This record gives sequence, C-alpha cells and structure tokens, in this order.
Amino acid sequence: MSEITYRKIVVERFGGTEAMRPVEATLGEPPPGHARIRVLAAGVGFTDLMARSGDYLLQRKVPFTPGYELVGEIVDFDSGTPRPPAWLAPGARVAVALTHMAAYAEYICLPLWQLVPLPDGLDPRLAATVPLDYLTALSVLDTHGRVEAGNTVLIQGASGGVGQALSRLGALRGLRMYGTASAPGGEELLARHGVAFIDYRRQDFETVLREREPGGVHAVFDHIGGAGLRKAYRVLAPGGVLVSYAFAGRPGHMVADTVRGAARVKLMNLRPGRRTALSMVPSEIKKDRGWYRAGLERLLDMAARGEITPRIGSVHPLMRAAEVHAALERREITGKAVLVTDV
Ligand SMILES: NC(=O)c1ccc[n+]([C@@H]2O[C@H](COP(=O)([O-])OP(=O)(O)OC[C@H]3O[C@@H](n4cnc5c(N)ncnc54)[C@H](OP(=O)(O)O)[C@@H]3O)[C@@H](O)[C@H]2O)c1
Repeated sequence: MSEITYRKIVVERFGGTEAMRPVEATLGEPPPGHARIRVLAAGVGFTDLMARSGDYLLQRKVPFTPGYELVGEIVDFDSGTPRPPAWLAPGARVAVALTHMAAYAEYICLPLWQLVPLPDGLDPRLAATVPLDYLTALSVLDTHGRVEAGNTVLIQGASGGVGQALSRLGALRGLRMYGTASAPGGEELLARHGVAFIDYRRQDFETVLREREPGGVHAVFDHIGGAGLRKAYRVLAPGGVLVSYAFAGRPGHMVADTVRGAARVKLMNLRPGRRTALSMVPSEIKKDRGWYRAGLERLLDMAARGEITPRIGSVHPLMRAAEVHAALERREITGKAVLVTDV
C-alpha cells in the first residue's frame, strides 16, 4: 500500500479544549525498522490534559498530537526487516506505550521494537488502558519502590488511573495498602483491591498513618508533591522509600513546579535512613527497551487472563477527543476514558 490519508487530533496552541482539532494528514511507506499501524483504540490519561495546557514536563511543541498509549492493527512494515518475528504480519494486533505522544490518530508509523503483540481474545479497548498506567505501576513498585510481600504502603490518589494500577498490582504482590482519594464511591473502589481508604479532603494522611502504623510505612507513592512530600517522608519507616511519579503544580507554573518538586525529592535522598526516587516512564522505556517489552507483554497476558481488570469509564469516537478532555476536567468520567476509531 502506498500513501495513507488519515485524520488525527492536533493541539494547535496550549490552553483549553477549543485548541484541539481533527486534521487530515498522510503517512508514507514505513522507513527501515518501522511499521504502519491502524489505530483501534487509544487510552486517555491525565498527562494528555496537562500536555494540552502546556503544563507537562516532557512537553511537546505545538502543534502536536496527544496520547501515550494505543492498540492497533499492523498495516505493513519495512519489507527489508531481517528475521521478522512470527507474530509480525499485516493484520496482527499490537499494543504500544509511546515515548513521545501521538496516539490520538487513525494511523501511526512506529519503530518495530515498540510493538508488543496482543494476546488472542484481549479486547483492544481494555488493552488500550494498560500500557502507560500499568508500566508506571511496575516502575514505581519494582524498579524504584522495590517493595516485597507484607510491606505497608501509601498510594496517593489510589482512585486514579495509575493509582488503580498500583492498587491492583500491589494486591497481587501481597502489600498492605492505604490509599488517598476523594471521588464519590472511592471507598468501595479502593476496597476492591484491599486498599484502606483515606479521604484526603477530610483526613490528614499523616495523622491517620501515625495512629494506625506507628512504626511507619515501607513506601509512599506520590503524584501530588508540594507540602505532602515532607509529610510523606515523615511517615516512612527507617529504610522506607518515597517514590514520586508526578507533581501537581499551580496552573501556568506546572513545569517549573515539577522541576522544583523533582529537585526537592533528589535533595531529600541525601538524608540518611530513608530513600527517595523519581519514576519517569517515557524516559525509562527509551533507556531500557527490554524492560518495556517484557513488562508490557506480562501486563497484557495478565489482562487476557483477567488478573488485572482496568476500569473503562467511557468509550468515545477519536474525533470527540476534545469533549472527552472537557468531561474529564469536569470530573464527569470515573475510570479510564478510551478513544476508538471504529465508530
Ligand atoms: N511518571 C510517569 O511516567 C507518569 C506516568 C503516567 C502518569 N503520570 C502522572 O501521574 C499523575 C496521575 O495520572 P493519572 O492518569 O492516574 O490521573 P487521574 O486518573 O486523573 O488520577 C489522579 C488521582 O489523583 C487524586 N488526587 C487529586 N488530588 C489529590 C490530592 N490532593 N491528594 C491525593 N490524591 C489526589 C484523584 O483522586 P479523587 O478523584 O478521588 O479525588 C485522582 O484519583 C498525573 O500527574 C500524570 O501526569 C506520570
């Protein structure tokens, strides 16, 4: 097949959802080591909303297409590829976590090393919710947290996309878990994975944990930053670890606040007795392709076997991405939002 004409969502300038537009584009033959993919489903994460606003640390310049994760079908691939694996064939379904956003598109051209085959029978919509959130959870729990069965941990925002992935994988690892959340139904949601609920709007997590875990917790997983970082550090047991994977900053200052937060976490690590670490999955994928491929393969197998059960909040046509961002900002969608091309 030669040139493909397709549509994608482009953020034309940083700001509100009005700057997101469908545009037509073309995709030429795949270059060496690449495949062209017809996108079936793309997951929507909070990171996409931050990037649209211009508030993301690994910010792409405008115009750009958001989206870190997708499931698609291979159209064709570089015909000169030496020894292609048996699964690599036109029509094969693959899942991908991107290192640079671009998933909100009908077609995309990607390096072959990034394509992970989808297990037979796994629903593409469900699979599209796995790559970013669950790889982040693997990075936080294993690479940086190094937690073990029986460890007690605090998951900030356990009701969110990454928070739920941490909760599910944490339950499978035999962790004792506390989680902060505030959304309606949060307590029941956290209880599904055995996470003890702390309502962060009414309760101070440090007070709760001092009372219930006087010896401290082994790990805190945080994406909020700010004043909570010092408290999180204080609730750690000796030898414990604070893993930060994002920093919620002031609107318009999020990048500067993220840089400041990351510097604080690094400084805290100079103190003896406890550890701090930063998780940044897009960079970790680039640095260690083996980790990425093995991790995503394992996670997709777990999803196919029903061992991980991501919650799809809603499914929408790709071209309605702007409305989905707006609904997420109004907190009207609970669970993952998925964009699809087959409607
Ligand atoms: N480091 C990485 O590689 C990486 C990868 C993926 C995502 N991220 C980042 O991780 C963060 C979360 O992403 P996501 O997609 O999981 O977002 P999400 O689905 O919107 O979840 C965010 C959660 O944070 C909770 N929350 C908000 N304010 C809070 C507070 N003050 N204290 C405790 N919890 C609070 C919310 O809980 P309620 O709704 O219950 O109030 C919500 O469940 C984002 O900043 C994203 O950019 C980083």
